[in-house]
Parts: sequence; structure tokens; C-alpha cells
Amino acid sequence: KKVLHIVGARPNFMKVAPIHRAISERGSLTQTLVHTGQHYDVKMSDVFFTDLGMPAPDIHLGIGSGSHAEQTAKVMIELEKVFTSEKPDLVSVVGDVNSTLAAALVAAKMGIPISHVEAGLRSFDRTMPEEINRVLTDRISDLLLTPSADADANLIREGLEPARIRLVGNVMIDSLLAAREKALRLPTLSELGLEPRGYAVCTLHRASNVDDAKVFSGLLSALSHVASRLPVVFPVHPRTRKRISELGLAATLERTPGLRLVDPMGYLEFLALTSQARLAFTDSGGLQEETTVLGIPCLTVRENTERPITVDIGTNVVVGTDPVRIQQTADRILDGYGKKGRIPDRWDGRSGERIAQEYEQFLGVGKTPR
Ligand code: UD1
Repeated sequence: KKVLHIVGARPNFMKVAPIHRAISERGSLTQTLVHTGQHYDVKMSDVFFTDLGMPAPDIHLGIGSGSHAEQTAKVMIELEKVFTSEKPDLVSVVGDVNSTLAAALVAAKMGIPISHVEAGLRSFDRTMPEEINRVLTDRISDLLLTPSADADANLIREGLEPARIRLVGNVMIDSLLAAREKALRLPTLSELGLEPRGYAVCTLHRASNVDDAKVFSGLLSALSHVASRLPVVFPVHPRTRKRISELGLAATLERTPGLRLVDPMGYLEFLALTSQARLAFTDSGGLQEETTVLGIPCLTVRENTERPITVDIGTNVVVGTDPVRIQQTADRILDGYGKKGRIPDRWDGRSGERIAQEYEQFLGVGKTPR
């Protein structure tokens, strides 16, 4: 029986790597890895395969950027051909990017069973493209593999069958735990002239934050304030880099004391950076989870999160986009009043293994006990 994995954008790679590895170690299923090419820069894609020890994609569609409709439609057209020739028994999709929904829609129409890894997360904010992708992908998936109990509750509230839902834990954390020691041996900090716990890290790329000039400049002003207290390292996403240059902000940012704009980093390098930071600012989903496991205070500069467990029991604070509130919260943390967190259940490095077992069970192969 054959599992076909879809990856498209940066946050997908660290989720698929542990599943691919677990399936290959167990040896009871064959698998094909398809890259849609939604992300295509070396620094947004290739480096992750090397860092995560994941084989190169078997099939690369080379779709690239475009409007939501264009990007989703192009992925769908190409995937229909791939599914026709590859004849997978199960299509495995992860996360909430456009490639995720495109793959699920094509598989559903072709009658191919779908597994959604990271099912059930909800921000309850339909202005977020990822929320649409999550809701629709879950609705048409046969297996709903969730990272935490809140996700199970969301799915049940939406009327999805409990029999399709399995709490497998957070598979991205498998990648983090497997790579942590290796990352800590890298010279990343010394190359940047940083001391452990002596700097903050920032990532911003969400359309709602960087495409709106007023919101984006507010966030940058809050960052400049923090950068006056300790260095802030800011690996800049291509979307954000574009906005900075369109808004003519590059020169001002380069001159801001303490603020260090750098290129997007590979998985290991970025893990070296985050795991030794004093504080993180982000609008990413993944970083909210990674900082929770690493015990690093995280300020999520959004109005909501689809990952409430990182706030309820982790180190995350959803701080919004008001610069004054961000500065005050950052100051409190830097003054020693950060919150202590715990690691959620089943974020233990074994989710890939659980997922591989679910796939064997679903496809009726192997000897997985129930
Ligand atoms: C996508 C995901 C988002 C995820 C993010 C992680 C959707 C709807 N959004 O957003 O959920 O958090 O990836 O990075 O799927 N670009 C490059 N090089 C690349 C990729 C993109 O230059 O390798 C530029 C292009 O100008 C493109 C823009 O970045 O127009 C946005 O890329 P896109 O894939 O549309 O969305 P992201 O903002 O990356």
C-alpha cells in the first residue's frame, strides 16, 4: 500500500520528515514525497531537506507564487495528474497552507482517502487564509490526526465523527527534539556575536501583519524599542522583505540600534537561535509551539491563535498588534516576570511513530495493536 505525502511551504517540511522516517523504518508501506513548489527559494525550501535528513522529493511540481486562487488551482491541476499516475492508497497532508487544501480537494474528488496531520486547530478568524484551509481540509479528511485535545473538541463541535479523530501529538516537535543537540553545536551565536539568553528573536510574515502598512510600522516601532534593551535578530521572510522595500523602510531598519535583519535561516541554524534566546516575537504558528517546548517566553503578535494550548499551559502570550502593549509585555518579561510553562501531553518526539501506526491500521497492513 502506498502513502503519498504533500509538502509545499516551509512549515510543512518539519512535520513530514518524522512521518516519512517512521514509515520507512517500519517498512510496511511504500511512500512517495511530492513537493508542490509553493516555496521555492533555497533558503525557504532546499536547506530544510538537508537539515531534517529528509530525502529529496520524488516529484517536484514547481508551482511557485501567485494569488490564492492561482496558486491553489495550479497545485490542483498538477496533483490530479500525479494521483492518476501514482495511484496512492492514502494522501497525507499537513498543516494549513494552500498546498494542503489543494491536495485534499483533489484527493477527495478522486475518491482517495485523506489524512490531515495537525487537524482541528482553529483561530475562529475567517479573515485568515489558513483558517479556511484548515476548516475545509478537515471537513473532507478521512483521518483527523490532532496535536492536542482542544483540536479534538473543535472537530467534534463541528460535527465530525469521533471515530476519525486520533490525538497523535505534535509531530513538529519530533523534528525539534531530534535536531536540538546538533543545532546547539553550531557556531550560530558566536558568528552573530550573541550570548546565550542575551538577545531576542523575531519572525513576521503573516499577510495581516506585513501587508498592512500601519500595523507593520507599529510592530517595527515596538521592535525598535525592544532592540534598545537587547539585540533583536530578525530573519526576514521573502514576503516581509518585499514589504520593507516597498514601504521604503530598509534604510531606517538597518540603522536601528540593536535590530539585526538577516536572511531566512535553515532549520538547524534557526533552532540554535531560538533555543538560546531570551524572548521570541512572532506571528508564526510553529514558533509558538517550539518556544513552548523550549521554555522560551513567546509574544505572539496577532489578535488570536489557533494554538491555545501554548497559551494555556505553555510560555506563549497573545499580545495583539498594539505597539504599546507589545513593549509593555516585553519589558515585563525582560524585567524577570515571564511566565513559566509546561510541555503539552504527547509533544514527546513520538508522534511520527504514532502516525505511521495509524496509517498501517487504516490501510490494513502490519501488525499494529490497537
Ligand atoms: C505561506 C502560508 C503560511 C505559512 C507561510 C510560511 C498559505 C496561504 N500561507 O505563506 O500559512 O505560515 O507560508 O512561510 O499557504 N516568496 C519567495 N520565495 C519563496 C516563497 C515565497 O520569494 O520561496 C514570496 C513571493 O513573493 C510570494 C510571497 O513570498 O508572493 C508569499 O508566498 P506564499 O507562499 O504565497 O505565502 P507565504 O506568505 O509564504
